[in-house]
Amino acid sequence: DARVNRILDTTEPLVIGHRGACAFAPENTIPSFQLAIEQKADLVELDYYLSADKTPFCIHDKTYDRTTNANQQWNAKKTKIAAKNWADIASLDAGSWFDAKFAGVHLPKLDQAIEAIQAGSVTLIEHKEGDAESLIQLLKARDWTDKLVVQSFDWEFVARCHELEPSLAIAALGSDALTAKRIAPIVDKVDVIAWNAKFVDRAAAEMVHKHGKKLFVYTVNNTQQAKELVAIGVDGIITDRPGEIGAAIRK
Ligand code: G3P
Ligand code: CA
Repeated sequence: DARVNRILDTTEPLVIGHRGACAFAPENTIPSFQLAIEQKADLVELDYYLSADKTPFCIHDKTYDRTTNANQQWNAKKTKIAAKNWADIASLDAGSWFDAKFAGVHLPKLDQAIEAIQAGSVTLIEHKEGDAESLIQLLKARDWTDKLVVQSFDWEFVARCHELEPSLAIAALGSDALTAKRIAPIVDKVDVIAWNAKFVDRAAAEMVHKHGKKLFVYTVNNTQQAKELVAIGVDGIITDRPGEIGAAIRK
């Protein structure tokens, strides 16, 4: 697809909206994704888990506490994500915790989220839990395999996605020293290395580029830091503030 190819081929720095534009709207919800599109994000990132009855849906944490009203709704703290069926999850309020003006916003199913993002940008799907087979099946059913990017810290999952769908654009996530040895097991199976910005310097960027791969960094909300990272060769900035960061790093 032209849009994902443009992203993988461009030499322009890319702006990736983290959980949407989560500085300004409740993370991993449709309003947050739409805001990231309005702020001209080249890609929009989301996180997904599976419900007990195997519906993939968007949320970041391992429990519902921080980003929903689950505590009140279910009268229970620290409920694990996979403990609930989608019918129960669908009725949670995932907006009020952020701002009263988002009251009644629900957690989106993964396919609803992708649909909303693809309308104006390109999805960067972050897998948190679930098997590669069912994700690839969903992407194939909706003809999305060549139109978006998938990433995970779980490199077995990453490798399995590559095996099942070699044309899928994939990123390997990491958050420790970024060395040739560290990425050796995965680098040939991915298009992008997506790394914690704390561990990225010019030498690391050169090493990733020597492999012919792009380097994205997370999570950068400071415009000066974003400019410096682009100056040392970083190809994409994952940020809660895509509008501001885009204005700072685009020519
Ligand atoms: O996109 C990379 C970044 O989102 C990974 O960390 O914890 O925010 O999912 P986390
Ligand atoms: Ca994420």
